[in-house]
Amino acid sequence: MILNTELEYKGNLFPSKIVKYEKNLNVLSFTAENGVILEVTVRRDSILRFRYTTTGIFENDFSYAITKYASRGYNHLEVTEDDDNYIITTAKLICNVSKTDLRTSIFDAKDKTLICEDELGFHWEESYEFGGDVVKMSKTAQSGESYYGLGDKPVDNNLKGKRFENWVTDSYAYGRETDPIYKAIPFYTALHHKKAYGIFFDNTFRSFFDFCAERRNITSFWAHGGEMNYYFIYGPDMSEVVANYTDLTGKPHEMPALWTLGYHQCKWSYYPESNVKEITAKFRELQIPCDAIYLDIDYMEGFRCFTWSKEHFPDPKRMVKELADDGFKTIVIIDPGIKIDMDYSVFKEGLDKDYFCKRADGPYMKGKVWPGECYFPDFTNPEVRDWWSNLFKELVEDIGVKGVWNDMNEPAVMDVPGKTFPNDVRHDYDGNQCSHRKAHNVYGMQMARATYQGLKKFSYPKRPFVITRAAYSGTQRYTSSWTGDNVATWDHLNIANLQAQRMAMSGFSFVGSDIGGFAEQPNGELYARWIQLGIFHPFCRTHSSGDHGDQEPWAFGETITNVVRKFIELRYQLLPYLYTAFWRYAEEGIPILKSLVLYDQQDPQTYYRNDEFVFGEKILVCPVNGPNQKGRRMYIPRGKWYNFWTDELVTGGQELWVDADLDSMPIFVKEGAIIPKYPVQQYVGEKTIDELLLDVYYTEGKEESMVYEDATDGYDYIKGRYSLRSFKLSGKKKELIIQQHKTGKFITTYKTFKLNLHGLPFKITKVQVDNVDIPLKDLKINGDNTLVLTKEFNELHIIG
Ligand code: GLC
Repeated sequence: MILNTELEYKGNLFPSKIVKYEKNLNVLSFTAENGVILEVTVRRDSILRFRYTTTGIFENDFSYAITKYASRGYNHLEVTEDDDNYIITTAKLICNVSKTDLRTSIFDAKDKTLICEDELGFHWEESYEFGGDVVKMSKTAQSGESYYGLGDKPVDNNLKGKRFENWVTDSYAYGRETDPIYKAIPFYTALHHKKAYGIFFDNTFRSFFDFCAERRNITSFWAHGGEMNYYFIYGPDMSEVVANYTDLTGKPHEMPALWTLGYHQCKWSYYPESNVKEITAKFRELQIPCDAIYLDIDYMEGFRCFTWSKEHFPDPKRMVKELADDGFKTIVIIDPGIKIDMDYSVFKEGLDKDYFCKRADGPYMKGKVWPGECYFPDFTNPEVRDWWSNLFKELVEDIGVKGVWNDMNEPAVMDVPGKTFPNDVRHDYDGNQCSHRKAHNVYGMQMARATYQGLKKFSYPKRPFVITRAAYSGTQRYTSSWTGDNVATWDHLNIANLQAQRMAMSGFSFVGSDIGGFAEQPNGELYARWIQLGIFHPFCRTHSSGDHGDQEPWAFGETITNVVRKFIELRYQLLPYLYTAFWRYAEEGIPILKSLVLYDQQDPQTYYRNDEFVFGEKILVCPVNGPNQKGRRMYIPRGKWYNFWTDELVTGGQELWVDADLDSMPIFVKEGAIIPKYPVQQYVGEKTIDELLLDVYYTEGKEESMVYEDATDGYDYIKGRYSLRSFKLSGKKKELIIQQHKTGKFITTYKTFKLNLHGLPFKITKVQVDNVDIPLKDLKINGDNTLVLTKEFNELHIIG
């Protein structure tokens, strides 16, 4: 079978000339003489869906990726024709469909520049082995085009010159050359002439992307079955492309509880109970903040999901409560493999109800995982998902577990070639019965979805928390994720950095790595540097296989413990800032981490940058990624930035050396930013917040900042009980003005702000709050430029 697009034309079949055109509202269909139909759906002015059939009949239109909440609607739609093309015009795009062969080219409606154009366009090859088609698309790469995204690929940000496969795979100790790994997110953003567009190939079969690797001016993608079905998403801003993709495939269904953004500690495995308690007690003793403790597979009875080892955890409910009293949430692992054991109720029930996956000829899909031989629930069956979700009742409602960690859900099978189910396994696919070839990439997603449903039900009125290893596009609606079994090496610190950035620009921000590395053991320096990076990842957890020694913050001696504490404390101080960034992500689909290219696509210097990224809107971070470093060179994006540690103001658009001993790292704050901070707490909720610290960074100019807060958990925020403050800062030579606008009904516990003014170029002589002069002594103005004032102010003038 010829698998790639370009090698030769032999075997490839192409659409012929258009013989029929029909328009049904926003769905335009073009039928070719040889039976191929192209259906173009105008979803929004900037989003077109292209769908092809080679048989004249479309399959049932069903997608796990596309959310029913996606925005729809357009301002303008017109279809005209000339001699060669049908011409579809929306408010943002012009798309030509060639009358001779269905090839398309897409232009910016405003300035008529070419954005994306088919090379061979849609073509296909019949699949003799399985029936159906191998569906293919090739596009001409535009000059200077770069490519980004594609989920968890462990490679440099810019994908140009590389080829990838999407087939979720258990990948212990993967490296830069390993492809595919755990996730399948067939979405990329392309950028040329400073304009960005995205392509989401919503096809769950094994798929491939080639970014000018095989032919230097051609980009192509193809899949081993299913339909050629892709969405074209125009920007021209890259952040718009990502936000629109996220809108299409779904934003997180709810805000995460604030504690989930705290620090988490994990290991394979903490057991028995006394060991768990030892670990949590040590956190409190050493005053290292931590919100969550994890139980890996050894908490179970013989690795049977939903059971507890009586020997190691005789009274889980009591233990979980005691941990909770000490501020720790307990999170447990749940894998998909259900041990074959007639005395095990979950297995028995699954069998009785016929919920396990079967091979094509009827027998159960049997495979070996941790518990030995297992059967596997078919999570693509809604009834099975429902059953699965109810299995969490005892764990969550009764025992008090606060989060569930879904692992091995690629699904991973041990000791077999391919490490997963054979192709012929059957799946329900929500009533669209199919083989594993089609369901494989969504299996883990549907497991995480079912788990999420359970947690949502039984955690209520609190918010659910789930972590998954496997994912397909759209999984971000239900769960957070980590990057799987990495290794304790410096290059893996870089890979973790790349993967977190890449996932964020693939619509999935709530991601982190196993800090310090899962396999092997880091030395103290590597662990400390990795913590420094990890506190800027939305999901922040140390995890390790435990085979190679300890990996707790105190495992590497006092110097390292102190560095680790300092950075975890910084994470806790920045919680309101991170929560606000998360809110923007959940609300607008804006990624929490911004690779420099996404931050400033107008600056070509950013196109190949890997290490630096912007955390939220205003904080620039760059990990130190090698041993014995006293600092590093890094690229500072355009604009002016304050060094977080020294308040030195630097000008961007250039590479700079930045000092960073082991107890420091390069962090910069954008001028004009207002960064909200909480006091250090050992866990979220330990303290009542009685003052919000606002770090204000002077600029001679304007900048807007926001602070989102709510009850930190629960659903009241959906009913309007949130507090959103927007601060408009404007700086002049002798004056700094801050206007506050507040919305939402949530009343924060604090009554005052403490402003910490950075970089103020004048000495304060006068302060006016809402047009009233306030005596300086009432504001507790200190020599250090801090001042305390009511949170209710509308307009503040600080005058020199
Ligand atoms: C897998 C997971 C890892 C976990 C281990 C045991 O390797 O990726 O995180 O600790 O299984 O459950």
